[in-house]
Amino acid sequence: MSETTATVRARANIALAKYWGKSDAALNLPAVPSLSVTLEPMITETTITLVPGLAHDEFLLGGAPAAPEETARVARVLGEVRAEAGSALRARVRSTNSFPTASGLASSASGFAALAGAARAVYGLPDDLRRASILARRASASAARSVLGGFVELPAGRPGDDDVAAIPLHPPEHWPTLRLVVAVVSEGRKDVGSRDGMGLSQRTSPYFAAWVEGAPRIAAEVRRGLAERRLDVLGPALEHSFAAMHALALSTSPPTLYWQPASVAALRTVQRLRDTEGVSVFATMDAGPHVKAVCEAADEERVAAALAASPGVLRTLVARPGPGLERVG
Ligand code: DP6
Repeated sequence: MSETTATVRARANIALAKYWGKSDAALNLPAVPSLSVTLEPMITETTITLVPGLAHDEFLLGGAPAAPEETARVARVLGEVRAEAGSALRARVRSTNSFPTASGLASSASGFAALAGAARAVYGLPDDLRRASILARRASASAARSVLGGFVELPAGRPGDDDVAAIPLHPPEHWPTLRLVVAVVSEGRKDVGSRDGMGLSQRTSPYFAAWVEGAPRIAAEVRRGLAERRLDVLGPALEHSFAAMHALALSTSPPTLYWQPASVAALRTVQRLRDTEGVSVFATMDAGPHVKAVCEAADEERVAAALAASPGVLRTLVARPGPGLERVG
């Protein structure tokens, strides 16, 4: 018999080789391979309760009803699970994030991963991380990676082939001393979300085809750096990935500039730490102004202090490799 309540935790992740662009928008398949690390302690916890007689799915985020478009996205995931499970019961979804949504770490990745895991559990589908990752991917491709812990790859998809799930590369213990220091910078204008941003890149950038062609080579370097635990291999590759992605965003019509003055200052701070102080630290950015520095635990305090002192940085957060989906109730 299926349970009527399930609670699942998932963590945010940061892409070291970026996903940007889709090979199939309907199935939400990535056009390029991406590699990530799942982050402790950036946790979304989601509880789903099946409620007989409920007319529509409900979604509470941080205790308050979510925006209608967010609820619709959640209901779509639940609808797919209901179809597979042969259930008509609607659900109440409650989700909380342990980290602020404006922290520069995407809560949608941990959110849809936790939702996929909890939905499969509550509707009585088998415990299958591959199926959970595919379900999460259809909602948001970066969420497919948060289903798994440690170091993860999401391959590019061929149009029409829905069978694309995240692949485990290494568990968190493979490189437990890797650190991500997030420099949260002042918010200026509202950013273009990743979905719209990558759509614009795909439609209007003259360089999109070159990005798709070159991304597998960057991903291979990131994969090697992770396998060999070599920051001197991983670092340049992850910087290449994020810089190429942002160059693509800049080359759209109209241009998409995610950087604030404080982002540039933080990137310079990372470069200075590396070039003049010999610290092995490398920067990455996503579809927002925050700068994320990758370094070893031994350099974490120095990197965090330097970034905290960088002009316009509001605060710093530190994350390390963490686990994938966890059923906690
Ligand atoms: C810059 O996963 O949010 O964070 O699949 O359209 O929901 P959708 O996009 P999303 O894009 C994430 C883009 C990124 C890079 C990455 O995480 O790989």
